[in-house]
Amino acid sequence: MNFKIPRGTQDILPEQSLKWQYIEQKAHELCRRYNYKEIRTPMFEQTELFARGVGDTTDIVQKEMYTFEDRGGRSLTLRPEGTASTVRSYVENKMFGWVNQPIKLYYIGPMFRYERPQSGRMRQFVQFGVEAMGSDDPAIDAEVIGLAMDFYRELGLSNLKLVINSLGDQESRTNHRKAMIKHFEPRIAEFCQDCQNRIQKNPLRILDCKVDRDHELMGTSPSILEFLNETSKTYFDNVQTYLNDMGISYVVDPTLVRGLDYYNNTAFEIMIEGKGFGAITTLSGGGRYNGLVEEIGGPTTPGIGFALSIERLIMALESQGIALPLEEGLDAFLIVLGENPKARAPKLLHDLRTNGITVDTDYLGKKMKGQMKAADRVNARYAIILGEDELNTNQIVLKSLLTGEQDTIPMEEVVGSLVTKLKEEKKGESS
Ligand code: HAM
Repeated sequence: MNFKIPRGTQDILPEQSLKWQYIEQKAHELCRRYNYKEIRTPMFEQTELFARGVGDTTDIVQKEMYTFEDRGGRSLTLRPEGTASTVRSYVENKMFGWVNQPIKLYYIGPMFRYERPQSGRMRQFVQFGVEAMGSDDPAIDAEVIGLAMDFYRELGLSNLKLVINSLGDQESRTNHRKAMIKHFEPRIAEFCQDCQNRIQKNPLRILDCKVDRDHELMGTSPSILEFLNETSKTYFDNVQTYLNDMGISYVVDPTLVRGLDYYNNTAFEIMIEGKGFGAITTLSGGGRYNGLVEEIGGPTTPGIGFALSIERLIMALESQGIALPLEEGLDAFLIVLGENPKARAPKLLHDLRTNGITVDTDYLGKKMKGQMKAADRVNARYAIILGEDELNTNQIVLKSLLTGEQDTIPMEEVVGSLVTKLKEEKKGESS
């Protein structure tokens, strides 16, 4: 039997995983600058958490969850996103009572959605997301958007388009909802079954329908922006003022509704423009979810966050030909020629490595030429050559593979000498 990887998943092979490590490191470093702290929650949760949190009229809950019963008969679901789990943990750990408020958290981890796989749409993908809970200040909306934009910018991406909208507060939404029902109801029979089910439960969701997206009523549906009350309007104006002050450009799109039910007020997506990116152009999305903490059983608490997938980010980097500055090469490669030198290799390698030097050697009994080739292939800066002659005189040859220069030095000095040379070279390169 030939085993195959499950549809919509991928192996991240060593060459790619270097990119992942670099990107994840960037995310940790950026969050540190913005003072968001990492949270790690389980990969599965009670199914009910997502039904309530994400919303049971959403595609995610209706069609895309990996739900299973465990041996104790509990219904569990592989998390399709990170916000519901983060809020569950916030409530369960009573973070609303912690001294430093608001609570600013971030996560990096796999999410699971049973979607039709295509480029940029996976069944297992990794999200980097942030959530800020406990503040209703529009400045924090701008901060979250700014963090997302900074992340892409610092990785070198260009041609990004930030799209924002306001979904309003409860009152604005209720009025908009009535208008939406009035707009769609007379002709709802022309829409798909999902939309017909959604019209009373959550008519806003109709705008998110992939089947009927070209129906003429879609383009003429009442805009939420016309239904914003004064509070929501002022809030949205303030978010925009902050974005303007920060020099972040954006477009307001009143049809942006997002695919999850928990949003109110600010909603946003970051898209990539330009050729070569395929059909899926949304890189990340987020927004405010002021009712979610309460929905999950906590006290009334405002919240805002966003998430992006690293898979789509890497696609975007590749489509723009951006090479990340990855450190792939080794400091040294130990070349051993003969039985006695080979016996000395493990100790020498261990000494080098415990002194911070990245080094490898040959384990296949290759000849000198083959070992030199291997040193080249791993991009080693130095070859450390240990042959029978050197061993007899307790010496070693240190050859720079960049300049070809070589020195013969006493065996006990090799670690110190290499550490000094590498330090000097790296200093020279960074100045
Ligand atoms: P979302 O829009 O469902 O929002 O997903 C956010 C991002 O995750 C997308 O923009 C995309 O980059 C990535 N993504 C989603 N589905 C897939 C997929 N099947 N394959 C690859 N990438 C995917 C959320 O998940 C919200 N929890 C975001 C949020 C956080 N809102 C507030 N806080």
